[in-house]
Amino acid sequence: MQEDIHQATAKKLIVANWKMNGNLEKVVHDITCYTNNPSTNNHNVVFALPFLYLISAKHLLLNVNAKCKLASQDISTFNNYGAYTGEISGSMLQEIGISYSIIGHSERRLLYAESQEVLLKKLENAVASNITPIYCIGETLDIRNTKRYCEFLKQELDILFKLQNPFHSIIIAYEPIWAIGTGVTPNIQEISEITDLIYAFMQNYSPHAKITALYGGSVSDSNIKEILDIPQIGGVLVGGASLNTKSFIQICNYSY
Ligand code: 13P
Repeated sequence: MQEDIHQATAKKLIVANWKMNGNLEKVVHDITCYTNNPSTNNHNVVFALPFLYLISAKHLLLNVNAKCKLASQDISTFNNYGAYTGEISGSMLQEIGISYSIIGHSERRLLYAESQEVLLKKLENAVASNITPIYCIGETLDIRNTKRYCEFLKQELDILFKLQNPFHSIIIAYEPIWAIGTGVTPNIQEISEITDLIYAFMQNYSPHAKITALYGGSVSDSNIKEILDIPQIGGVLVGGASLNTKSFIQICNYSY
């Protein structure tokens, strides 16, 4: 597993977050297209599909011995098995070979009122199941305008220090809420400021832990180059543009 993660981060990581989009036909079509393309059939390319399609995608990847990885878009607060109707545990995701789990996406924080306590349990479950968390942080436009955004982001990061099981590898995705689905992106200095903040804040965590900072929010084939050119950036989390195979292949072409 650890070896996998190191291979995965050798190039900049490109994570496709399909959110609640697609259908089985699109999954078969797009995953087949990506496994046939050298820039997407790589350890650094990850598909976060709706739960329902993960096992079909896993079979498609296994059939051709593909290198790309899969992520879940969420994980239960409960681990193992039990009377938790509708939930998917870390153990279940681990069983079908899911490598990553998105935790704390702003859409879940806002639409499902996911608190820091809930997110802490989800992080614990991912770590206990050997699934690398992709932990999302990001401020609203109001918070940015009040200039308190650094404090706000540090508070979101703070729960990582409360984890009982230490993690060996974590991905922290900075996704400003005002940039998601809007076509507006922070400038390079603004993204760099937050990636520096992430690494500085996390430096007191175990020296053995691997921390990777991603950027997400209106990433497209036209802005990918300048974003991936930021030296500290470990990769990107792509929403809308990951639904179009042509755009997504273009985006992956820039990963090096
Ligand atoms: P967009 O790329 O559509 O702005 O979405 C970003 C996002 O939320 C990825 O998790």
